[in-house]
Amino acid sequence: MQLSPYTPGEVARDVPGREVQLQEIGGMLTLPALHGRFSGRIRVDTGPRGVGKTSLLRRVQGDAVRLGLAPIYVTAGNGPLSAVIADQASKLVHDWGTPNDPGSWIDRLSVTLGVPGVGHVTAEHRKSPSSAQATRAFRELIEKTTKEAVAQGLSGVVVLVDEFQDADSDSLKTVAYAWQEMQGSRVPAAFVAAGLSHTADVVTAAVTSAERFAFRTMRDLEDAQVREALTEPATELGVRWETPVLQDVVRETRGYPYAVQLWGDAMWAAAGSPDPDGVIGAGAFESARESVNNDMEALYRARWSKASPREREVLTVMATLGGNEVARASIAEHLGVASGSLGVVRQSLLDKGIIQIAGHGLLSFSAPGFSEHVLSHSSR
Ligand SMILES: Nc1ncnc2c1ncn2[C@@H]1O[C@H](COP(=O)(O)OP(=O)(O)OP(=O)(O)O)[C@@H](O)[C@H]1O
Ligand SMILES: [Mg+2]
Repeated sequence: MQLSPYTPGEVARDVPGREVQLQEIGGMLTLPALHGRFSGRIRVDTGPRGVGKTSLLRRVQGDAVRLGLAPIYVTAGNGPLSAVIADQASKLVHDWGTPNDPGSWIDRLSVTLGVPGVGHVTAEHRKSPSSAQATRAFRELIEKTTKEAVAQGLSGVVVLVDEFQDADSDSLKTVAYAWQEMQGSRVPAAFVAAGLSHTADVVTAAVTSAERFAFRTMRDLEDAQVREALTEPATELGVRWETPVLQDVVRETRGYPYAVQLWGDAMWAAAGSPDPDGVIGAGAFESARESVNNDMEALYRARWSKASPREREVLTVMATLGGNEVARASIAEHLGVASGSLGVVRQSLLDKGIIQIAGHGLLSFSAPGFSEHVLSHSSR
């Protein structure tokens, strides 16, 4: 009996199917890590809930550490982003405890950037900094933290931000302008973020020139990648999947990474948590399916319960129209309203991660099977 190597709802141990992303981001990281140069673009990987954004970002963090970069890993939404980054940078610098007391500059910048609980709040500091002051402070934060990193024998710093769609617009401006000003410099730093599929909208609304940001869409996995995600962890434990049932499971997951892990985990349990030389075979399929359905139902129920009555109307119309690549105009037409009046509902459903942008004017549900769930509600 061996513990399941699958990770439903947890950061994935490996990220098959993300080789392109890892290669491109790896290229960005080598600029500071190997050439002592500034990486001028802020890379943002976007996609629906459960597609694997956090797993990718954690993997990038590991790669960065292997390259000698000090990671500043934060999640947006928990206070102003520039303050959250400053707080994390401050922890790093204090941990390094460098002899020439770096605490002084880091505390000063932390106060300017609004990190709670740092320094004495004087009248001067009580008012929030102007956007120019914040930009200067953020830039200084990156430059000085990087310098300390190098003094520690590291190669530089990488800022990693998850849930980037939740960043406040003031911080997005601060970060974007500071990054703009450091172009072409020899500050060994890079910035990588991940967010829901409407992150680009949030950023462009806050920052007029968003060309410093490189947005990339993360998609569901291809069949071969799902196969790899299912078989590799088993192989490592000396367990083999029978081919026919593997094909069935690959089809059932529809390439959705969260479903891949649920299926892997359920098959593992249904096959009796096999020992080395064990096999995952067709006998496990039915009971695994029941278990996965229960888990997916729980996910659908959680999403449905988060939706307001008006949002549920929109979800129901989307489900009636197939739930996939539904034109916003068709939804409006069905509800007998002007397309523009759907803006607020659309934004809220995007923020909740229930729907995602599927192209210009097109919306899709973010979890496979959600359509059927919504229709079963509306027919009750
Ligand atoms: N490349 C991958 N191959 C297989 N499984 C993966 C892969 N990436 C992530 N997963 C699995 O998919 C699930 C979702 O992963 P993760 O939490 O990274 O997604 P996310 O996009 O950050 O989701 P959310 O938007 O809810 O934060 C987890 O169970 C994780 O183990
Ligand atoms: Mg995540």
